[in-house]
Amino acid sequence: ARHLLGIEPLHPSEITTLLDLADTYVDLNRRTIKHSDALAGMTQINMFFENSTRTQASFELAGKRLGADVMNMSVAQSSVKKGETLIDTAMTLNAMHPDLLVVRHPNSGAVNQLAEKVNCAVLNAGDGKHEHPTQALLDALTIRRAKGRLHRLTVAICGDIAHSRVARSNLILLGKMENRVRLIGPPTLMPAGVAEFGCEVYDDMKAGLEGADVVMMLRLQKERMDGAFIPSEREYYHRYGLDAEKLAFAKEDAIVMHPGPMNRGVEIDGTLADDINRSVIQEQVEMGVAVRMAAMDLLARNLKARRGAEAAGEH
Ligand code: CP
Repeated sequence: ARHLLGIEPLHPSEITTLLDLADTYVDLNRRTIKHSDALAGMTQINMFFENSTRTQASFELAGKRLGADVMNMSVAQSSVKKGETLIDTAMTLNAMHPDLLVVRHPNSGAVNQLAEKVNCAVLNAGDGKHEHPTQALLDALTIRRAKGRLHRLTVAICGDIAHSRVARSNLILLGKMENRVRLIGPPTLMPAGVAEFGCEVYDDMKAGLEGADVVMMLRLQKERMDGAFIPSEREYYHRYGLDAEKLAFAKEDAIVMHPGPMNRGVEIDGTLADDINRSVIQEQVEMGVAVRMAAMDLLARNLKARRGAEAAGEH
């Protein structure tokens, strides 16, 4: 593929190839390797039009560990603030001939639109409520390493599903890999049409968690609620916040995940989030670097092959 815009267009074999490559970037101590020349001579630009800690830092580290020249465009200081459109900004950067463009944007579909205009490989770092493909891939790698497989698992995704690109990318990926996906949350935070993805829907945590292998918690994404009903945090924690009592309904060896940023005492109990016997939240962050290295490595290989073929065609 030329870009990584979402999980939707990926074949299961492409997902496995990417996870296998990401695994090669992790050593026995779960540390990602620090030096490779896979992206040597290449330029990576990170454009984040929405806040980020994990995704931006790990894309930057991943690029540097693969030998790329990495530039973080500072949106706050850019001409975006003077009214320049996303496409004009992207075309300006495109004229500087980057090889990889990593983009996060608040509008669903904005990254796909941008990818049609530029010559380089584009990676979606999260677009509105649409997709966050590298998050789903790092979650998949974390699950596969913890459970020894990425199929025939029961995965419960809990909380604000309606506003979550993380939930959307994950349920597409987990479905493609033949897992059973359950969505748990208040009906007001459940999107219409989820049944078409073949998942089961619950509004009761205990019923939904029964027998789950993986419990994935989500933040209340108030910034995307846009006037919709926002539940009180106290009431929400009581009904949907994950604590040891609710987790006891899942399998004894069920793992607890959260993509971050986490709101302790809202969707998850802080002690449980820190319990290294159940929580793989820090491992998710570690796998984020490996998965982003693998994604950029694969796209760079395709880019080089395409450029090689174009150059050969000119002669
Ligand atoms: N999980 C995730 O996307 O985190 P950031 O918003 O910090 O990048």
